Amino acid sequence: MRIDVVSIFPEYLAPLELSLIGKARQDGLLELNVHDLRTFTTDKHRTVDDTPYGGGAGMVMKPEPWAKALESVAGASEGAGAAEDSRKPVLIVPSPAGERFNQALAYELAEEEQLVFACGRYEGIDERVIEWAEEHFTVRPVSLGDYVLNGGEVAVLAMVEAIGRLLPGVVGNPESLIEESHSDGLLEYPVFTKPSSWRERDVPPVLLSGNHGKIAQWRRHEQFRRTADRRPDLLAEFDAGSLSRADRNAFKDLGYDVVDGRLRLRGGQED
Ligand code: ADE
Repeated sequence: MRIDVVSIFPEYLAPLELSLIGKARQDGLLELNVHDLRTFTTDKHRTVDDTPYGGGAGMVMKPEPWAKALESVAGASEGAGAAEDSRKPVLIVPSPAGERFNQALAYELAEEEQLVFACGRYEGIDERVIEWAEEHFTVRPVSLGDYVLNGGEVAVLAMVEAIGRLLPGVVGNPESLIEESHSDGLLEYPVFTKPSSWRERDVPPVLLSGNHGKIAQWRRHEQFRRTADRRPDLLAEFDAGSLSRADRNAFKDLGYDVVDGRLRLRGGQED
């Protein structure tokens, strides 16, 4: 996979040289280039922003430096001999006004050949850039969550890490990807290590039993409990049609019944 990030603060992306993502780059599993938007300006002050039409607070990013930067990164992959029928690169525009980023989107984006991230600052990028970019890219405004950051860079760090770790060979033990939170629509079960008794707190005895069937069931039911407790919104989406009898009973104990393949909180509101 090739990733291009365009930002007025390229140093902000330095952490992508570290740890698993840094190693993936060194190993050639991921080609990641960070571009300074200001190198695509033509005036002596290297201006990237201007006042908003219609008035209001703050500044808006000017369209032309963005068009030049995006043409340059789109052209780079075309020039690299991309096949006629190859997909357009995906342009991700981090924005609190975008679709929500989640694990499913991370998996989807991990299948792409090229991702380009356009880090906006100030009040955002002139909207015409987003429309114009559709000619060269599949454009996706994406939000990290319902809060406002000062710019797209922190969101890019999070998204590149979430996507990059799904690329083949990046995570040493791919089994760890299967069991983690959100991989099956549930939160992860709690984990413990030695010593088995620490500050008068004991590890749940089933984990010391050596009974792998019981351990698997305990972990699964802990996932149910945790998800019901912390993220009941996830359970509304959960496919409960193929749950075992033991799993249904575990949900019953948590106050959920299975109705038409979906979990329904007993005494909850009908829609
Ligand atoms: N830029 C500013 N706030 C953001 C958010 N919540 N998600 C993605 N990009 C952003």
